Amino acid sequence: MATDYVVKDIALAGYGRKELDIAETEMPGLMACRQEYGESKPLSGARIVGSLHMTIQTAVLIETLVELGADVRWASCNIFSTQDHAAAVIAESGVPVFAVKGQSLEEHWDYLDKSFQFADGPNMILDDGGDATLYVLLGARAEAGEEIIPVPTSEEETVIKAQIAKRMAESPGWFTKIRDQIKGVSEETTTGVHRLYELVRDGQLPFPAINVNDSVTKSKFDNKYGCKESLVDGIRRATDTMMAGKVAVVMGYGDVGKGSAASLAGAGARVKVTEVDPICALQAAMDGFEVVLLEDVVGSADIFITTTGNKDVIRIEHMREMKDMAIVGNIGHFDNEIQVAALKNHKWTRIKEQVDMIEMPNGNRLILLSEGRLLNLGNATGHPSFVMSASFTNQVLAQIELWQNTDKYKNDVYILPKHLDEKVARLHLDRIGVKLTQLDSAQAAYIGVTPEGPFKPEHYRY
Ligand code: NAI
Repeated sequence: MATDYVVKDIALAGYGRKELDIAETEMPGLMACRQEYGESKPLSGARIVGSLHMTIQTAVLIETLVELGADVRWASCNIFSTQDHAAAVIAESGVPVFAVKGQSLEEHWDYLDKSFQFADGPNMILDDGGDATLYVLLGARAEAGEEIIPVPTSEEETVIKAQIAKRMAESPGWFTKIRDQIKGVSEETTTGVHRLYELVRDGQLPFPAINVNDSVTKSKFDNKYGCKESLVDGIRRATDTMMAGKVAVVMGYGDVGKGSAASLAGAGARVKVTEVDPICALQAAMDGFEVVLLEDVVGSADIFITTTGNKDVIRIEHMREMKDMAIVGNIGHFDNEIQVAALKNHKWTRIKEQVDMIEMPNGNRLILLSEGRLLNLGNATGHPSFVMSASFTNQVLAQIELWQNTDKYKNDVYILPKHLDEKVARLHLDRIGVKLTQLDSAQAAYIGVTPEGPFKPEHYRY
């Protein structure tokens, strides 16, 4: 039988299994899902296409979905984020997976297409950044003879269009059929969620979506505490540079920016922040960071990190002003935060995988991490298991909800109810020895809640 996977080296599966066993001990939320739902198998009949960084933590998520009854096929949502031993162990377990660290953009979209190829097509999407949703929607639009809506970068647009044309030639009507049988999507990240709300605004979302990112136990933990650990990890593994004493500029002070600034400050860097939002700028200042204009510090800082989810934040004119050996990287979802395309005609020297030295016209050199793609996953291994357990427990609950209660939902974007958010947090307390105070009924009544929760009104912002 032909193998139904593309991985770097299946022999890495043994190493992958050992790391997966360790990760399970740090992912109490996912393990609790297996205990609670392993027998009733609420995902029976679900055929889930997953497009999310193929890491060890994701491997624990995949095995959880399978234990809950789902059929799963997987691709990574980024060309540099795969951990090849994680992909290998998933392939060996019999789950079709298409992910290699350092795959090309063409392979990226081909692998995504492969992850859709269940015999009867998928009926659920688990997305990170929205590529899987985008693929189906763009393809269905193309089949209807409609214009293809803008995609992240022009380089990517050419590749996506070619992949869609190929699939349309091989299987006429395929995209429309798949779009119509998808019951729902759960979306992991800020950037993907942003795309979903735009689709709703334009009346283009063809199935319900759960915004996993805006569960409190996702964005206020993964985006913040996750980046707090994984940003500096990525910079160190890439460069081994001394962080203490260096001047670092963090662009954006949302959840990822807050974690990133804390990461660099914790390593002893002197951190400056840029922001466009007065609330986040004030937060940064009151957290003790100088809030500056990039133009004013670009010639003196040592490390530049974008965290905005926006485009063209570090532009070519900024990079021309940077000092020799400045380090430039991005931790936001897409690579268009830094104008990497404008550097293509400069001299590039490959230091090692995902680390390049680029010579600027004035002779200064820049160290560019992961070609501007998210460096914590490109240069290191992403967030630790414990925080990803909280994110992925939300993913599992969202998949169960959309699969079991499809009819309750319109073609709109939903957030999981607060009692489930609190449940996810609760599942992670024991592992780190947290003791929770119990409200008595008089106290609960006084603050207008029940002793079991939810403990906060919907408008509370944490
Ligand atoms: P957010 O919306 O909370 O924060 C982004 C911040 O950037 C906002 O405060 C915004 O005002 C600011 N901003 C926008 N344009 C700017 C500009 N030109 N200059 C300075 N500041 C600007 O979003 P969040 O949750 O922090 O996510 C940011 C990005 O990181 C998204 O692309 C998200 O998908 C991604 N992400 C990456 C993770 C990783 O592990 N690498 C983990 C979680 C999210």
